[in-house]
Amino acid sequence: MDDSRPTPKTAFVKSYGCQMNVYDATRMEELLAAEGYGLTDAPERADLVILNTCHIREKAAEKVYSELGKLKQLKAERNAEGRDFKIAVAGCVAQAEGEEIIKRQKAVDLVFGPQTYHRLPELLKEQARTGRAVIETEFPAEDKFDALAAKSLRTKQGVAAFLTIQEGCDKFCSFCVVPYTRGSEFSRPVAQVLSEARKLADHGVVELTLLGQNVNAYRGSDAGGAPSNLARLVNELSSIDGIKRIRYMTSHPRDMTEELIEAHATNDKLMPYLHLPIQAGSDRVLKAMNRGHTAEHYIRLIERIRKAQPDMAMSGDFIVGFPGESEKDFEETLAVVRAVNYAAAYSFKYSVRPGTPAAERAQVPEEVKAERLQRLQALLVEQQQAFNRSTVGKTLPVLMEKKGRHEGQMIGRSPYLQSVHCELPESALGRIVGVQIVGTMPNSLSGQYVGESA
Ligand code: SAH
Ligand code: SF4
Ligand code: F3S
Repeated sequence: MDDSRPTPKTAFVKSYGCQMNVYDATRMEELLAAEGYGLTDAPERADLVILNTCHIREKAAEKVYSELGKLKQLKAERNAEGRDFKIAVAGCVAQAEGEEIIKRQKAVDLVFGPQTYHRLPELLKEQARTGRAVIETEFPAEDKFDALAAKSLRTKQGVAAFLTIQEGCDKFCSFCVVPYTRGSEFSRPVAQVLSEARKLADHGVVELTLLGQNVNAYRGSDAGGAPSNLARLVNELSSIDGIKRIRYMTSHPRDMTEELIEAHATNDKLMPYLHLPIQAGSDRVLKAMNRGHTAEHYIRLIERIRKAQPDMAMSGDFIVGFPGESEKDFEETLAVVRAVNYAAAYSFKYSVRPGTPAAERAQVPEEVKAERLQRLQALLVEQQQAFNRSTVGKTLPVLMEKKGRHEGQMIGRSPYLQSVHCELPESALGRIVGVQIVGTMPNSLSGQYVGESA
């Protein structure tokens, strides 16, 4: 037996929070695979566990510490068997809390932020060499995306993939940690995005979701070094043969330009589904949130969008119980929801985030927040179900993304991001087929294959 060879290592990467974290986790997995790591979806089978964390609400951030408690246990068991076990905390909690994490949980070996994960292989080596915890949360001068692009990864993808094109935020909504955890707005150059998209298409990706904290504020430089915009980028990506569908998220109402609205009217690959959060319906609250627009502006904007693309399904985010929100303010949120009629939405109780302006203000009692959330969610669920029912009987083009739970079943996505179950052989994977919707379930639709769709 050749004892000089290192035993193969296995990593488990778990992501919390937004799609951008999912994208980052995929890239970390690619980096690890290139270093010879195998990947697992069970921490018990791993030698390295990375928690890619989210700091957006208190609950999300606190969950990390309970997870770390369990991992500490696992590490002790491993170490008792004489085996190695490393724990890493990545993502937005790592960025926000840094050294604090090691102070609260000494079993942690590595802490690194969203802007430094491209250095993961080096950080692991440094930790192994020194045997001490490594913390890397500076915003480095070198470009993470340049470093990642140089490694020629992105080979193991599904049918639908995320592609981060913009990161960070300069808007400073008074409730939000993102400008602090992700840093200021940065857009990747057009050529770099196109090259990554081509690589994804070469490996079977059919649908791209372009990601950014403010994706429609995209200003990446074009070939001549001038700032481009999201509308132009989407149109350029559409010329890649294998890419049949394009989505983008999350958009800010202030950055929804005429050119982008126009793209929804003219570009068939751009899906008729738009995630455009307003957060609250009262102008007084919107002002206190520092959103920079009124409810009227938002509603007029959606009217313009629906004029360009009458088929547009809308989605949004809401916060209830923001400091100072009165019953009347809250009712204005319900009024916006009724006016827009959402196909899907996410809603949250306001959560105090240390260091953000709204944290210092007089808070709405917890039970009032809970009661408002319940009323808002009842309305949103009603709208979502009505939207799902409205698709019954229609034939939709569905991109088949994965095998279903039972034999001979596939699960795909409608243009409106609904999950659709259908009896089809696995050979349908990656194809966009015509499916007649026959029924609705709480979180998905069922349908029957009617033929290949254009
Ligand atoms: N950039 C996006 C949102 C990113 S955060 C935008 O501007 O819309 C995702 C969602 O989390 C937000 O839309 C908001 O609804 C919610 N959120 C952010 N901070 C929060 C807080 N302190 N409490 C509760 N929800 C919050
Ligand atoms: Fe947060 Fe506002 Fe920036 Fe969205 S726009 S990431 S809510 S600060
Ligand atoms: Fe959470 Fe960071 Fe995304 S705080 S929502 S993981 S940008």
